[in-house]
Amino acid sequence: MIGVFDSGIGGLTVVKQILKELPEYRLMYLGDTARMPYGNRSQDLIYRFTRQAVEYLFQAGCKLVIIACNTASAEALRKIQQEWLPKNYPDHRVLGVIRPIAQEVGKLPGLSRVGIIATSSTVKSGAYDRELKQINPEIKVFSQAAPLLVPLIEEGWQNRPETAKILRGYLRGLKNRKIQTLILGCTHYPILSKRIKNICGKKIIVLDTPKIVALSLKDYLSRHPEIETKLAKDDCHRFLVTDLTSQFKTNAENWLGQKINLEKIDLN
Ligand code: DGL
Repeated sequence: MIGVFDSGIGGLTVVKQILKELPEYRLMYLGDTARMPYGNRSQDLIYRFTRQAVEYLFQAGCKLVIIACNTASAEALRKIQQEWLPKNYPDHRVLGVIRPIAQEVGKLPGLSRVGIIATSSTVKSGAYDRELKQINPEIKVFSQAAPLLVPLIEEGWQNRPETAKILRGYLRGLKNRKIQTLILGCTHYPILSKRIKNICGKKIIVLDTPKIVALSLKDYLSRHPEIETKLAKDDCHRFLVTDLTSQFKTNAENWLGQKINLEKIDLN
């Protein structure tokens, strides 16, 4: 089974693309809705929460876990991969979203000015800057924390004029810096991608981050038969959350584009 982890249900934007690109694999989604948002928490806490969630998914039978959450990928992935995994689950794998997105930027020709919007923790971590500079040291990275967007999207305010105004404010500085491409560095932001594209105009490429992550997973599985052959292949997907409200259910079904059964679990 493939596990997909996010701090909340925004990661369903990634699941939607995985189901499209890799329909044969069984998925288990885990959204830590009881403890979200992660985006303004300390690195230590984000690491502890993420490790706990990954362990839960391993115990439930996942051989491979995708950390769809940018904040958790930025603040916890490296430590999990380098310290915790080799000691505790050496035959399991954990992948994040920042490297594949940065690699995609590296493939775009003539691109030197990259903008990122993300949570405060992701921006502060410098994880995107590091990955992008490693791929191409010439790239100039401009980051903007956009902490108000997650609560607005969670509230279902994506089409409200207030949201458009806040979004324009966040993007103004990046547009002034003449960015050529924009990374939506948070699982929720693709829900605003139409609006973001309108504000950015035709000259800025707004990356389809969930699609990049899904295609990179496809590529990974084709190169790692030792993992691929261990994955269950059917459509008995499960969607787990650590807190369940009617708003979570409504958002989850809207963002995934299908009816689902959300199951409440306890990570402690
Ligand atoms: N899922 C998080 C991310 O992709 C955003 C929500 C949060 O702050 O927990 O960064």
